[in-house]
Amino acid sequence: MVRPLPQAEPFRIKVVEPVNMTTREERAKKIESTGFNLFSLKSTDVYIDLLTDSGTSAMSDNQWAGIMLGDEAYAGSKNYYNLLAAVQDVMGFQYVVPTHQGRAAENLLLSIMLREGNFVPNNMHFDTTKAHVLHKSGIPVDLVRQEAFDPISQYPFKGDMDLERLEDFLAENCERVPLVMLTVTCNSGGGQPVSMANIRGVSAIAKKFNKPFFIDACRFAENAYFIKQREEGYRDKSIPEIVREMFSYVDGCTMSAKKDALANIGGFLAMNDVKLYQETSGLAVLFEGFPTYGGLAGRDMEAIARGLREVVDEEYLAYRVGQVKYLGDLLIKYDVPIIEPVGGHAVYLDAKRFLPHLPQWQFPAQALGVELYIEGGIRGVEIGTCLSGRHPKTNDHDYPKLEMLRLTIPRRVYTDRHMEVIAVACANVWDRREAITGLEFTYEAPILRHFTAKFRRLGK
Ligand code: F0G
Repeated sequence: MVRPLPQAEPFRIKVVEPVNMTTREERAKKIESTGFNLFSLKSTDVYIDLLTDSGTSAMSDNQWAGIMLGDEAYAGSKNYYNLLAAVQDVMGFQYVVPTHQGRAAENLLLSIMLREGNFVPNNMHFDTTKAHVLHKSGIPVDLVRQEAFDPISQYPFKGDMDLERLEDFLAENCERVPLVMLTVTCNSGGGQPVSMANIRGVSAIAKKFNKPFFIDACRFAENAYFIKQREEGYRDKSIPEIVREMFSYVDGCTMSAKKDALANIGGFLAMNDVKLYQETSGLAVLFEGFPTYGGLAGRDMEAIARGLREVVDEEYLAYRVGQVKYLGDLLIKYDVPIIEPVGGHAVYLDAKRFLPHLPQWQFPAQALGVELYIEGGIRGVEIGTCLSGRHPKTNDHDYPKLEMLRLTIPRRVYTDRHMEVIAVACANVWDRREAITGLEFTYEAPILRHFTAKFRRLGK
């Protein structure tokens, strides 16, 4: 019998950053002193940091070598041209405006396109995109398929836009819709992928109504890997081919290079329309910097250019998506309720099923995050009632359908042994779930309250 070899990390670890171990008592004190806010912890007090996959990737030797080739020019840096060439080759767009991160690309695009009272349809807006639409007096509209809200539906592309609803929405509100957006993978819905058929479908509807179509491309390579795995007709296509096809249906993208460009900072707006390029690059001078650096050092642009070419490597993606699935499978084995199937960059604990005795006004996902930190020094992030904020009309909490604690896996940073520690810590919290109590605010900021909120524990 020939045993199939297990797949291990497709890299060697050359540089390490030691992490601090703390005791359970120390952690209980530290989290209480922050007002039970995970954002307020020092990262040195965290053992395994799963707050975000954004800007937390380990860069490759090739990216670090590129950093030494940073040409710190105000205008016309060679690293800008390397970035432009990488975007043209990998994604196929003609024009690129670099920005200091993804939300700045959203700002440029939406400042130019949106007028007061306009709607922006998206499968699900990420919170910065939603905030930028609102900031420009627009109205974000989420039109994801209903399966996205069923935590145990095994539908393979739960990030898909509901095409019927999109078409009806455009038919009714055509005059007030300046563009259509689609977020791949769908972060707010559990890191779920969008199928090629759906991208094609959204593109056809946008064309029918003569609307530009932009992708929020932060995790485009992870999305392409899911298309290869799950969608009929793509098994024999290479990841670069799938990526080029995805972007062939759209007019441009906003990109946070802190995710699928494997960089620690940066982003860009990419597009094919020269007029839009002229307008957005003009505005970039005001908010970002000259259009050939956009708030970035030459070395950052070089790291992004190299990361974009690296991230479409299939072996890397098999490891990356495979590691997230490994954690998800361990949690399922321990009966810990998660959003299924597991997404591309994170495992999302389902706080409604984890802590059914806590109503949403007691912030169950936040309470779960606090317990997981105390249990194992593991920091997740609440994607639930606190993040969701208040409803603009009723001023009550804007209760989300999904109440989740996201365990976001940085790229190439933790080993599968870390995944095992996370799973056991979650299982221990699961075993003592009935004793966990809810939280209430002692301080709440008017906007983006999750970053600074303070809580107190409610009694039993
Ligand atoms: N779009 C999506 C889908 C995102 O996940 C993010 C960031 C952005 C846009 C904004 O990019 O941070 O570079 O300005 N998501 C991070 C997260 C913060 O933790 O999910 P940015």
